[in-house]
Amino acid sequence: MGTMSRNAITPAGAAPGCPVDESFDPLSPDFLADPYATLARLPADHKPVFFAPAIGYYVVTSYDAVEQVFRDPATYSAAVAQAPLAPIIGEAQQILLAGGHKPQPSMVSLDEPEHARLRKPAARAFSMKRVTAMIPAIEATAAGPLGLIGNTVRRLLEEPGRWAEIAAHPDLIPGAVEESLRYDPSVPVWRRITTKPATLAGVDLPAGARLFLWLAAAGRDEAAFDRPGEFDPHRPDAERHLAFGKGLHYCLGANLGKLEVQVALTELARRYPDLRLAPGQQLTFHPNISFRGPQMLVVRSAGRDAR
Ligand code: HEM
Repeated sequence: MGTMSRNAITPAGAAPGCPVDESFDPLSPDFLADPYATLARLPADHKPVFFAPAIGYYVVTSYDAVEQVFRDPATYSAAVAQAPLAPIIGEAQQILLAGGHKPQPSMVSLDEPEHARLRKPAARAFSMKRVTAMIPAIEATAAGPLGLIGNTVRRLLEEPGRWAEIAAHPDLIPGAVEESLRYDPSVPVWRRITTKPATLAGVDLPAGARLFLWLAAAGRDEAAFDRPGEFDPHRPDAERHLAFGKGLHYCLGANLGKLEVQVALTELARRYPDLRLAPGQQLTFHPNISFRGPQMLVVRSAGRDAR
């Protein structure tokens, strides 16, 4: 990482004493190509919270601190969950409006009591029983663009032997999907804003502090997971990940999302037990912080190429 400093009160507006990282930019090409390299380079002294002037957010990297935020919705409001990371310039706003884009707050960015009013009826529709009943429909649509499918397939093919093991033992697939959500989540970041002054991991945050909850970093926290940098489909506690959030706003589509990925992987491994990554490819990722997955994976099976 670049310049680090312990600030008093910075021009960028960070809380006194909070480490500042001038170079942290989650939309930069380097970060998009490999956010885990950026994470590995972070100086130890500004984990688990530092301020990133490039985006005006406090970045939260540890499992415990992220969990603490999710568990305290009165202090950490969801109001910024869908806000643009950078202000949208006037011209772009005009184009969006002309195209019929009318941003509406959905339950994900509402606080209580408005949130509960929407969530209660929606939750009934997402019960495990109802989701299981959707399996035939999912088998029609499993090739959907979920980044998690791409991330899981990539990680299973990256290491020789993993794919063959999954193909021979499909019962390992649910565990592999949980591990992918810990190791390389398709929603790598979530956001909150403080409603009042609060102390998070020793940092005194003012009211209105915007938090960049780096879920992908929380999954790699060595205080939370044994050998966090290793992708291990057999990991017994991978499902403790925070990839679906926690608490009041816990992802309503978690069961459905996981099932979709499991169904896709089961079918892929059944049809292509000898699948492998085509060598020499440079993976690319969409330039946003909301979703992460390879835009394309070139794979081979019995001499044939597939994308
Ligand atoms: C498998 C990929 C998915 C991931 C990684 C994911 C991740 C997340 C995360 C991190 C949150 C925020 C939780 C919080 O604030 O505590 C969330 C909320 C939500 N997700 Fe998902 N999600 C996925 C798939 C889905 C699907 C397939 C659906 C619907 C069909 C869905 C519907 C929702 C809804 C409605 C909320 C808001 C819940 C609330 O505010 O009470 N998600 N998701």
